[in-house]
Amino acid sequence: MAKSALLKSSLAKKYWMAFTGLFLCLFLVGHLLGNLQLLLPVSETAKDQFNEYALFMTTNPAVKVLSYLTYISIIFHAIDGLMLTIHNRKARPQGYVSFKPSTNSMWSSRNMGILGSIILAFIIIHMSMFWAEMKFGGLDDTIYTTANGEEVKDLYTLTIKTFQDAQYGLIWAIAYGFAMLAIAFHLSHGFASGFQSLGVNHPKYNGFIRKLGYAFSVLVPLAFAVIPFYIYFVLEKI
Ligand code: HEM
Repeated sequence: MAKSALLKSSLAKKYWMAFTGLFLCLFLVGHLLGNLQLLLPVSETAKDQFNEYALFMTTNPAVKVLSYLTYISIIFHAIDGLMLTIHNRKARPQGYVSFKPSTNSMWSSRNMGILGSIILAFIIIHMSMFWAEMKFGGLDDTIYTTANGEEVKDLYTLTIKTFQDAQYGLIWAIAYGFAMLAIAFHLSHGFASGFQSLGVNHPKYNGFIRKLGYAFSVLVPLAFAVIPFYIYFVLEKI
C-alpha cells in the first residue's frame, strides 16, 4: 500500500518525473564540464588530464553514488515517461473538430515522449560506445601510466579518434548534434515544467524560471554539440 502510494499514484509519478528530470539536468552540467576538457589542444597533458578525470569519475566513492543515482533516474524517468505517453495517447480525444492542440501548447510539450525516445536511443548508443568500453574491459589494452603516476585507460584517444574518423567522424558528430537538438526541445518545455510539478509556482518567479529554462535548454545542448564538430574540424589530428 505504502509502496503503491509512493510510486504509483499519478501525483507521485509526476513528482518523480520532475525530480528525476531536474536531477538529470544537474548531471548534464557536470558531464558537460568534464567533456569541455576535450577542447584543449592535443598534448600528452590534455590526454593525461582527461583520462585521470575519467578514472576519478568511475572510481571515486562519492561520484559512484551520484552515478548510480543517475542510472536509476534515467531508467525511472524513461519508463515512467513512456508509460505516461502511451496513457495520454489512449486518452486523447479522437475526431474532435475543435481540438487543435497546436493553438494552445508548444510543439515540444506535446512531443515529450518522442523527444525522450530519441534521447533514450542516444543514451544507449552513447553508453555502449564509451561508458561500456571504460567499464567492461574494452580499453584494458590501452592502460598506461600518466605523468602523475596514475594507471589509466585511454578513453581520450578513443573519443578523439571516434570523431576524427575519416569515414564516420562527421556522421557521428551530426548524429550527436541531432540528439542534442532533441535534448534542447525536451528541456525547452521540461525545465520549467519540472519546477511547476514540484510546486515551485509563484507569479514572482515563474517568468524567471521559464527564461532560465530556455537559456539552459539552448546553452547546455549547444555546448555539448560544439565538442564533436570542433574535434572533427578544428582539433589537430591524432
Ligand atoms: C538527458 C536526459 C533527460 C533529461 C535531462 C530530462 C528532463 C526532463 C524534465 C526536467 C522533465 C519535466 C518533468 C515535469 O514536467 O514535471 C521531463 C519530462 C518528460 N520526459 Fe524527460 N528528460 C530526459 C530524458 C528522457 C527520456 C530518456 C525519456 C523517455 C524515453 C523522457 C520522457 C519524458 C516525458 C514523456 C516527459 C513529460 C512528462 C509529463 O508530461 O509530465 N525524458 N524530462
